[in-house]
Amino acid sequence: MERKDFIEQVGLSGAAILIFGCMQSCSKSDGPSTNTNTGGGTGTGGGGNNTSTVDFTIDISKSPFDALKNIGGFYVDPATNIIIVKTTASEIIAVSSICTHQQASITYQANSNRLYCAAHGSVFTTAGAVTTGPATTALKKYQTSLTGTMLRVFA
Ligand code: FES
Repeated sequence: MERKDFIEQVGLSGAAILIFGCMQSCSKSDGPSTNTNTGGGTGTGGGGNNTSTVDFTIDISKSPFDALKNIGGFYVDPATNIIIVKTTASEIIAVSSICTHQQASITYQANSNRLYCAAHGSVFTTAGAVTTGPATTALKKYQTSLTGTMLRVFA
């Protein structure tokens, strides 16, 4: 094969790769975005305390969300870092699960109806307000709306 022929063939292959790559990336960005909540949640989500829009719906009759059928049950969404808690028979709350002190994970303590960070002992109300430091900033709170078994969590 002569040098000219080789360059022509490589050039065509390179162009084909570029076009194929563009088509793939274009098709990925054209559709509506959806998050990848485990267990079948749908919608868009953002992490912890960032400013991206959160709006997703989960079916609390299905695993792993079915803990939310019982008072004191909670679920931490790994895609958005939001902890969702059934605090009473008629209330389900949602707040950031990332501690505002040094970003450790928050958990829910049903016996005292509070959110707790084991890293350094910060305590938050279920509305996200700080009651015990060292954290000084409230957890971001999200809105919830329950229709049947479908729970929507949104900013
Ligand atoms: S990271 Fe939560 S109290 Fe320090």
